[in-house]
Amino acid sequence: MRIISIETSCDETSLALLECSGGFRAPKFKILKHLVASQIKVHEPFGGVVPNLAKREHLKNLPVLYKKIFGIGPEEKRNWKKIDLIAVTVGPGLEPALWAGIEFAKKLSKTWGKPLIGSNHMEGHLWSFLISPKGKIDQKKIFPAVALLVSGGHTILLELKELTKWKRLGETRDDAVGEAFDKVARILRLPYPGGPQIEKLARVGDENSIEFPRPMIHDKNYDFSYSGLKTSVLYYLRDNPTAKPENIAASFQNSATDVLVLKTMRAAKEFSAKGGSASGGKVKSIILAGGVAANKYLRKKLGGAVKKNKLAFFVPPFEFNTDNAAMIGASAYINYLRKKKYPLRANGGLRI
Ligand code: KG4
Ligand code: ZN
Repeated sequence: MRIISIETSCDETSLALLECSGGFRAPKFKILKHLVASQIKVHEPFGGVVPNLAKREHLKNLPVLYKKIFGIGPEEKRNWKKIDLIAVTVGPGLEPALWAGIEFAKKLSKTWGKPLIGSNHMEGHLWSFLISPKGKIDQKKIFPAVALLVSGGHTILLELKELTKWKRLGETRDDAVGEAFDKVARILRLPYPGGPQIEKLARVGDENSIEFPRPMIHDKNYDFSYSGLKTSVLYYLRDNPTAKPENIAASFQNSATDVLVLKTMRAAKEFSAKGGSASGGKVKSIILAGGVAANKYLRKKLGGAVKKNKLAFFVPPFEFNTDNAAMIGASAYINYLRKKKYPLRANGGLRI
């Protein structure tokens, strides 16, 4: 089936056209069109996303991206004939930004008489690894699994018995890890968004030069905390104003990711010990997703630990880590097949 999907939960306006096949057991996604309009330049002067500015930009970008995909006049009509479903992100996200996408999708649904379903942004991230260039992924090789979702708004650890059956093990108690990257970048006077900037600078720094804390690393639970680490960086720079920024970036990245890797691997071990699946099978894979999963250092560090434990590692291709509509279309396909419906309003009843 062919799905047109819309993502406007934060500062990226994105539209994707997907050909979905394979059914629930072996879903397969062919990306026919995928467009992302970034608002980085608009929010950069403010050092973070301004919700109402994001909404304004989405309203401006949506018709432009739409025309690029559908064309106008007879071409537009022809393209719509092939569409089976419209999908739009309904949350979690910035409310004014979400509404821009929801209203746009509702209008399309009404005009062209096509069904519309809401997608959960975090399910989009979770299942984004299914958009594999290698084609369909055999679910028997994936589950039971442990998933680490790391973005600008979330840091969540899940244990999954199946693709759509999971338990939340833990989450951040304050800042999300992506937020910590962005805040540390601001402390170091790097441009917004800070995550990729920190990663770049860290490449030339010494990651063992400064001993930053690894919050909650020894706690038995699976929660995280990143606000204290950010404050440690702030105090370190105040007390050592001539410290090399690349060493701060590298040491911060080292600390922040150590906690993620350790807790993820511990979760896998414990899940295996208690028999991950109904049939008692052990954990087969680790899934990493969300904007921070674009960080090559984290991919390598977690990937190394996963390999050492002889597990499979699933990470989406680079372009599908940060916010994108392709993952929204993919999650819409899964939810359409299992008849799961989210209310068509911003942040309505969503939790992963
Ligand atoms: O998933 P995403 O695009 O948006 C949210 O749902 O929040 O994630 C954005 C977050 C930002 O905090 C950004 O700084 C971070 O992901 N990020 C990175 C990298 N690329 C994006 N953090 C560290 N290293 C990166 N390469
Ligand atoms: Zn996201």
